[in-house]
Amino acid sequence: MRKGPALPDFPWDALADHAAKARTHPGGVVDLSMGTPVDPVPRVIQEALATKAHEPGYPTTHGTPELREAAVAAMARRFGVTGIDPAAVLPTIGSKELVAWLPKLLGLGSDDIVAIPAVAYPTYEVGARIAGCAVVRLEDGEAPPAGTSLVWLNSPSNPTGRVLSASAMRSAVDAARSAGAIVASDECYLTLPWESTPVSALHSSVVDGDFDGVLAVHSLSKSSCLAGYRAGFVTGDAELVAGLLGIRKHAGMIVPRPVQAAITAALSDDAHVEVQKARYGARREVLLPALRAAGFTVDHSEAGLYLWSTRGEDAWETTAWFADRGIVVAPGTFYGPTSTKHVRIALTASDERVAAAAERITA
Ligand SMILES: Cc1ncc(COP(=O)(O)O)c(C=O)c1O
Repeated sequence: MRKGPALPDFPWDALADHAAKARTHPGGVVDLSMGTPVDPVPRVIQEALATKAHEPGYPTTHGTPELREAAVAAMARRFGVTGIDPAAVLPTIGSKELVAWLPKLLGLGSDDIVAIPAVAYPTYEVGARIAGCAVVRLEDGEAPPAGTSLVWLNSPSNPTGRVLSASAMRSAVDAARSAGAIVASDECYLTLPWESTPVSALHSSVVDGDFDGVLAVHSLSKSSCLAGYRAGFVTGDAELVAGLLGIRKHAGMIVPRPVQAAITAALSDDAHVEVQKARYGARREVLLPALRAAGFTVDHSEAGLYLWSTRGEDAWETTAWFADRGIVVAPGTFYGPTSTKHVRIALTASDERVAAAAERITA
């Protein structure tokens, strides 16, 4: 077999020993390392999935008209984004696959640079490497270098929970456009504001209704507990979305029909999103004071699913400290070479497990 692209090591493998140690805790493990939902899929979504369980035919890559209309309406209701053409909505098989394949699907290659945040979700780099692109990591506010073809934004951020203001988003979009780059804004934590309110890159305060060169990448994994369904969508610049649709049709990158129905139902109902937000908010209220009481500084974390925490020591030392208490966290080094002193602590465990973690942290 020919060798594929040189990809970074899969970071979670490095955590295996700490996770094994944590599992030996007599009170049971509390896994706060991955942002995987633990609350049940809302009934309204399960039922919608089942309504299409009998359908034998191929679904459309573009998604049903109902799905696209529901996405347009949800973007307006939830995030105040108006002016999206339903034709410019494209469902994705979760958002990770889109993140990992976007540079390739956009036709980028070895002559292109992909700019990602200095501390970032690892799949941005993976996607760039799959396409053979060079990667640059940008500090907040840093302009992309000449030759950059794609700029990833992520507010609220995984892992830091940092929120970019509308004016910071606007500057980032302007800087990308000046470099001739497409902007992909990964907005999968937009429904989880705590201390500040994030905005979509498609909001008028950022782009004044001009979606040119801007894509917003959305996931239903966290907002609707649909990580298991693989449910997301991308929208924004109609021409770019049409190009993605064209390739994805050929490549068979199709969201299954029952999942399309589930996405439609999820995007049409805000009540469950509020319930889920309240659950994560309550867990945050338990973990955050516990971490502070134990001497941690929690940086950023003003929105999203993570507490970006440090005691000023090496991240692996902190990871080991948590493992000794039966808690699994993710070291900051998973997210970039500079984040050597933070760990990422997810709010994704049951109330009972989060309470156990808080007790152990403060004991
Ligand atoms: C920033 C970010 N983008 C994208 C994803 C992918 O989510 P999914 O593939 O479940 O939609 C995640 C998952 O944790 C994430 O943190």
